[in-house]
Parts: sequence; structure tokens; C-alpha cells
Amino acid sequence: MKSITVVSPEATVENRLLELYEGELAIRRVWSTEWREPGVAVMEICAANPNVVVLAGLEVEDAAILSADIDRRDPGIGVLALLDDSSPEDVMRILRAGARDALEADLSNDELRTAVDEILALVADRQRGMQERGSGPPRRVIVMIGPKGGSGKTTMATNLAAGAAQRYPGQVLLIDLDTQFGDVPSALGIQPEHSIADASVIGMNERTALKVFLTTHETGLAVLAAPESFAVASELRDDEIKRTIAALVEEFPMVIIDTAAGFDEAALVALELASDVIFVASPDVPAIRAVKKQLDALDAIGMGAPRRHLLINRADAKVGLSSDEIQETIGLVAEFQIPGSRQFPMSTNEGVPLVVGERRDKAAKPLAHLVDFFAPEPASGAASGIGSWFKRKDS
Ligand SMILES: Nc1ncnc2c1ncn2[C@@H]1O[C@H](COP(=O)(O)OP(=O)(O)OP(=O)(O)O)[C@@H](O)[C@H]1O
Ligand SMILES: [Mg+2]
Repeated sequence: MKSITVVSPEATVENRLLELYEGELAIRRVWSTEWREPGVAVMEICAANPNVVVLAGLEVEDAAILSADIDRRDPGIGVLALLDDSSPEDVMRILRAGARDALEADLSNDELRTAVDEILALVADRQRGMQERGSGPPRRVIVMIGPKGGSGKTTMATNLAAGAAQRYPGQVLLIDLDTQFGDVPSALGIQPEHSIADASVIGMNERTALKVFLTTHETGLAVLAAPESFAVASELRDDEIKRTIAALVEEFPMVIIDTAAGFDEAALVALELASDVIFVASPDVPAIRAVKKQLDALDAIGMGAPRRHLLINRADAKVGLSSDEIQETIGLVAEFQIPGSRQFPMSTNEGVPLVVGERRDKAAKPLAHLVDFFAPEPASGAASGIGSWFKRKDS
């Protein structure tokens, strides 16, 4: 689902958009009185990977700075500025900064809808163009959530991340946010020397330094491990986690976050920055009910922005619920269905994700579908076309 992020101290514009686009677009609003530098603000604004950002109720000066910074960070996002009593010079200034449109805030609902629709169409074209050039994986922050322990979050996170990194080496990061029992390193067969606890002391403007705390897997996947002990994990503060993730999102276009079972504080922090959330559950009544509870909780706290996906693991369980029953219960289509397979525990024990081991297995195709969905094959751009033409000519 496409999404809009509203940046405004008030809920007025957010509510108008909700009324206009109910169910069609994901709308979220961000605002903080603690934004002291535009960099931090822009990170939070762009975190949910919006297609359009609407700035409302801001000083022209601030709107111009944010428009420029958002455009610089991700030209695939279209900015609409709604201004109060603006002069033509103000409008020009905002447009020159990189916003797609600048309009008076007292526009009608029809005008608002037209403006947003036009920007959506524009950015869709632009994004298509960027992807065709094959510049990198789509920008996403994907959080694995599962109400029940052992549902397969880590298995799916490591397979998705390793599969994506094989296509985009150096551009995919996996964060182990199961701060107490994180076992991503063993699932990947790596031995990290640092953890998120070390990384969390780094300031926002030193973010390139964060890379020293990462461990690289043979696929080219970067990994930020969970703390090595309970004692260290218990000292990790939410704001440190948030700052660390936000900084890393700037460095890696694709970030995948594994979390502990249920919703802990760390998972909620990750969700604030998420573009996508994948619920991992087995196809049984208690598990699906638990997912329903989590969905309701997200609704209750107003966390509507991340796109929600459902991954049914061990989907072939004989006594399992059918996809239709699941959809009926929780209103989400079981987009990804991974069958049970003995290869999974074996690959977990060996520390080699199934997508890497190239094993022949019934889970291979559904896993490939998961990877394809989030990290489609890089488009073969003009360069590779010429390369293969030369080869043909030589031979
Ligand atoms: N589709 C599957 N078929 C068979 N075994 C599986 C499947 N998916 C995962 N497993 C196995 O189940 C065990 C638990 O999986 P995993 O660690 O991924 O769950 P988790 O949700 O991360 O657990 P926790 O809540 O403890 O973090 C592992 O041994 C894994 O190999
Ligand atoms: Mg796990």
C-alpha cells in the first residue's frame, strides 16, 4: 500500500487525508518538539518509506529546509507543502528547495486530493525510472514480528536478509533486536565482535563510524548483533536503539530487523521506523489469534504506517487453518506461506541459511518468493545489455 507521512504539529491535515483516502493509503503523522537538527527529523519522516510527505503548519524556512533534505535523501519521495498566508516568493522558495507543490493550507478537500494524487503519479514514474536503472534494492525497513516464541522469525529474517544480500551485497543490513536471546549470529554461522550496545554510544553525526560494529556475512550481508549478555542488554535504552537504527537506515537501503517474541520495547521502537512489518505465525488458532491481538494493538497505538504482511510458517501443517480461515479471522492475506521442512532445523544448526545452501527443498521456492517480493532481482540495465552484446559479437 502506498503511504503518506504528514509532518505537522496538529492532526488536522492527517484527519483530512484519512477521510479522503481511508483504506486506500497508509497515513501517518510525525512530529517532535525534540527535533533539533533537520537530519534527525528527516530520518523519522522518511522512516516508513512514504511515497508522499505533506508538510503542514510549518514556518516557510523550516518547510524549505525539510523539502531540500527529504529530496536529497530520497528523490523517490514527493513533498507537498501546505502553507499559511504565503507569498509567491515563499512558494518559489519551497519549490526550488525540491518540493513538488506548495499550496495554501485552506484548500478544499478536492484540491487536496488532486494535489496528492498528482504527486503520487509523479513519484511512481520517477521510482520506476530509478529502479530500471538498477541502482540498488528498494528502500525498506522490514521488521519481523511474531507473537509466539519459535514461530520462525529468526529463520525467515536470516533467509530473507541473506537472499537479499546475495542480490545486493553491501546494501542489506540485518539487525538482531532480540536483545536478550538474539541468535542471528548462530543462524548465519558468524562470530560478531561487537553488538548494538557498542553501536548505541555513537552520536548521530558520526554515523559512518557505525560500520565498525557490523559483521559481514559471506553473502555481503551486514549484521548488527544483539548484546552478548543480559546485563548489557538491560542497560540498552530505547532512545539509543532508535538513534542507532535511524542512523543505520541512512547507510543501508534495506534493513531487516529480527525481534523477540511478542512486543517488547525494542520491537516497538523498530516499528516506529518500519516501512514493512512481517507477522510470522503458524497456521493454528492460538497463533492466529495472537497475531490478531498484535494487529489490534498496533491500531490502538496509531501505528498504521508500516505495510503489514503475513507469513504463515509450517503452512502445510496437517491440522492447520486454511488461508481463507486465516484471512477471515485477521483480515490479512497469507501473502507468504513457507512449508515445514527438516532442512530448516538442519540449516539453523549448521549456521547456513537455506537460501544460501542451495538445497533442493520444498521450501526453496516459497523462500525465493519472499526474497523476490522485498528484493527483486536488479534490473539488467543498459550496461549489462551492452556487455552481453559484445560477448555475442566476440564469440
Ligand atoms: N518452516 C519450518 N519448518 C521446520 N522447522 C522450522 C521452520 N521454520 C523454523 N523452523 C525451526 O524452528 C526453530 C525455531 O525457529 P526460529 O528460531 O526461527 O524461531 P523464532 O520465532 O525466531 O524463535 P524465538 O521466538 O525464540 O526468537 C528453529 O530450529 C528453526 O530451524
Ligand atoms: Mg528468534
